[in-house]
Amino acid sequence: MTTQDTIYKTDALIAENIDAYLETHQHKTMLRFITCGSVDDGKSTLIGRLLYDSKMIFEDQLATLEADSKRVGTQGQEIDFALLVDGLAAEREQGITIDVAYRFFSTEKRKFIVADTPGHEQYTRNMVTGASAADLAVILIDARKGVLTQTRRHSYLVHLLGIRHVVLAVNKMDLVGYDQAVFDQIVADYRTFADSIGITEFTPIPISGYKGDNITAQSENTPWYTGTALLPHLETVTLEDTVEQTGPFRMPVQLVNRPNLDFRGFSGMIAGGQVRPGDAIRVLPSGKTSNIARIVTLGGDKDVAVAGESVTLTLTDEIDCSRGQVIVAAQAPLEVADQFESTIVWMDEVEMVPGRAYWLKIGTQTVSATVQPPKYEVNVNTQEQLASKTLDLNAIGVANVTTDREIPFAPYAENRELGGFILIDKITNHTVAAGLINFALRRAQNIHWQATDMGRDHHASMKHQKPAVLWLTGLSGSGKSTIANIVEKKLARMNRHTFLLDGDNVRHGLNKDLGFTETDRVENIRRVGEVSKLMTDAGLIVITAFISPFRSERDMVRGMMQPGEFVEVFVDTPIEVAEGRDVKGLYAKARAGELKNFTGIDSPYEAPEAPELRIDTTEMSPEEAADLIIARLIP
Ligand code: ADX
Repeated sequence: MTTQDTIYKTDALIAENIDAYLETHQHKTMLRFITCGSVDDGKSTLIGRLLYDSKMIFEDQLATLEADSKRVGTQGQEIDFALLVDGLAAEREQGITIDVAYRFFSTEKRKFIVADTPGHEQYTRNMVTGASAADLAVILIDARKGVLTQTRRHSYLVHLLGIRHVVLAVNKMDLVGYDQAVFDQIVADYRTFADSIGITEFTPIPISGYKGDNITAQSENTPWYTGTALLPHLETVTLEDTVEQTGPFRMPVQLVNRPNLDFRGFSGMIAGGQVRPGDAIRVLPSGKTSNIARIVTLGGDKDVAVAGESVTLTLTDEIDCSRGQVIVAAQAPLEVADQFESTIVWMDEVEMVPGRAYWLKIGTQTVSATVQPPKYEVNVNTQEQLASKTLDLNAIGVANVTTDREIPFAPYAENRELGGFILIDKITNHTVAAGLINFALRRAQNIHWQATDMGRDHHASMKHQKPAVLWLTGLSGSGKSTIANIVEKKLARMNRHTFLLDGDNVRHGLNKDLGFTETDRVENIRRVGEVSKLMTDAGLIVITAFISPFRSERDMVRGMMQPGEFVEVFVDTPIEVAEGRDVKGLYAKARAGELKNFTGIDSPYEAPEAPELRIDTTEMSPEEAADLIIARLIP
């Protein structure tokens, strides 16, 4: 019986007895898969073909799919294949902002979720997003083109992300006259590459998504092909237990539920293992232990819950546990660390800036993190490790990542939920990278914070003052140093203990190894921030005069200080005015092209959006500016 027959039989079953249908349907296994390839490889046609041939016999419950279901038509209604494909393509065009749409379909044997990613093939972003939970990847190759860099990149990622089943769908066989030699050559080429990256097994299938060859049944056009067609393969491929299913219990807490004093539940999706009432658990990073009291779900209490299920757990003790923490099996805790070696896939048009703080989302937690310059970047065609200062669009590399606090984690190879993360740009809010934790750095465990008896309060009280950072930012020649200098003199007269950090001076010593590239400026400000932090710990009022052109790093320094301690002063001088003064003659040099990366000319200045103070130097003298700053500090 062909799949086509089974579909018609299913149709009849639904018509007869919807309950019986739903009953059989409930027990079907689910296969999640992705298709990798560009629009030109026939990706949309193939997905359209699968939806069409399986007739979308199951109305789906996922909200994202509503649009598809409508377009595809309701049960039993005849629809035109070409129209369906056009519809999907049009929807994808409109949805360029959507990273991935999940399309749901089902046959008699199995349910399927396919991550349909917009066809901008230059972006790995969509592929990575769709791939994180996939069991299988269909790597599409245009029979006329063979194995491309794109194919290699996708395959590398598929393997990296731990997808265990790979189908090599050699598409458009109709356009090469169903020639076996073409197919065999592509399979041989791919095998060489697959071996080199550790993909030991894959299933090659010659298909035509457009004509329907080897999709639901073996095609008469390829009598030389003796394997299964694509859909029957997807229906029967064995789904082994994942590492998440067989591993120890882990659940990142998504939400703490406390509707009343008698009930306190921790909700989340189980990321690994199983849990039963009575199990001993530990909350990380705090390390507090307790036991499971109940497993609560919408359908009532459960005796056991497994990886992938969303549940609410109650504990036998009132212990602290909040969103972002992870509940784990007491006897198999997770590691906790704040420095990791990670494999990073960069997905943004703007390249990575080492040292810049990004949001890092892992499990249910978001922390601030910085990435060090890559140890190397991978050439996906040759597997060579190349030296690189940064990672740009689609680059895959290995780098150390430091988070601003300790997080419970598992290496990605052990748990995809607790070892996979994304990086988000703090200013643009773009997801700029996906990362996999390889391992925690030993250093993180060996360096501890040393508590000292003479704390920052003590230092401050001896000086009879509240520490602060007066952070002056503005263009070169805006007047920062002049104003900062007057501020310090005036504070000295008021018996305040101060220290002035000035860009030009610090760059003669501590930062003399740094230039003016974006990365160097980020590092310049990071160091100045750390030094300012130490000086406030020593009880000082710190005045800084640095261009500090980037919002991200000014915000980072702000985040390092106590609330209210950081006073951002925007020394607002229009570039024409600063350039007109040109005390150091640098603007002239920059205009003549003798000085590269000059702020305001060929390097950006991001003005503060909400500084504590803005000084318009065209309207007041440096004296007046200094008075204004001091008034803000000591009201
Ligand atoms: S920042 O951008 O990293 O904050 P910083 O304040 O330390 O810069 O140094 C700026 C000073 O370096 C300027 O006042 C100027 O005298 C000098 N300078 C030399 N080259 C450049 C350049 N390309 N851009 C800006 N300033 C430069």
